[in-house]
Amino acid sequence: MPFFSGIAMPTRPYSRLHVLLHWVFAVIIIWATVSGFANALYRLPPAAVDAINFINVSLTSVLIPLLGLRILCALDHSTVAHSGNRAMRLLAKGGHLALYVVTAVTLLTGVLMMERPINVFGLLYIQQPLHDPVLTSFFNTQHKNACIVLGFLVSGHVAAVLLHTLSGTPILRRMSL
Ligand code: HEM
Ligand code: HEM
Repeated sequence: MPFFSGIAMPTRPYSRLHVLLHWVFAVIIIWATVSGFANALYRLPPAAVDAINFINVSLTSVLIPLLGLRILCALDHSTVAHSGNRAMRLLAKGGHLALYVVTAVTLLTGVLMMERPINVFGLLYIQQPLHDPVLTSFFNTQHKNACIVLGFLVSGHVAAVLLHTLSGTPILRRMSL
């Protein structure tokens, strides 16, 4: 018997755009989290530190306009997993909502903590919105907190996907092209 009983899952509930955006966000967020914490926790060579900062600020800035599109896709899609089990449906929807909210907070605090112009791949320079060091250092702390919360949420999300897969529910097919 499957680990999550009462699950009724259509296999293609998400649009192509939704799936594409999900994986772009997944790859960038996982990379930014792992490399960002490695940068903070270990003494990496200065060239690696600079490269990680440049790549991560550029990549995560690209996510800011894409998050609007991603939220539109989420509002547009109506089918939900766990349609036969209210508790599991609430847990899944609550977890997904938390992922969206904390992603937005992480992006916002990242921008507000900047103490230099935001350099997007050397193609676009955006002035940092705040100049007061008290405020930028406050948002620096909040950015770190948001990254930790996002890290836990993503781990829980991936663990849930893994449990579904191991119990025989082809959940990954829902998020594939
Ligand atoms: C390897 C990592 C990941 C895997 C295997 C994965 C897999 C999946 C799958 C299978 C679904 C569909 C769930 C369902 O329909 O019930 C899903 C949905 C979702 N995932 Fe991921 N995911 C990963 C990483 C991430 C990351 C890093 C984020 C961070 C933003 C994320 C955010 C979401 C959200 C918000 C949804 C719900 C989509 C919606 O209903 O609008 N995922 N994921
Ligand atoms: C969801 C997107 C993001 C993720 C997952 C993420 C992740 C991280 C992580 C894990 C760290 C290391 C935290 C620590 O020092 O303990 C970090 C630091 C940093 N982040 Fe982000 N970040 C994101 C968005 C942004 C954005 C949009 C910007 C600016 C445009 C930004 C700018 C920075 C900078 C400059 C640092 C270095 C902080 C320092 O050395 O004090 N981040 N980020």
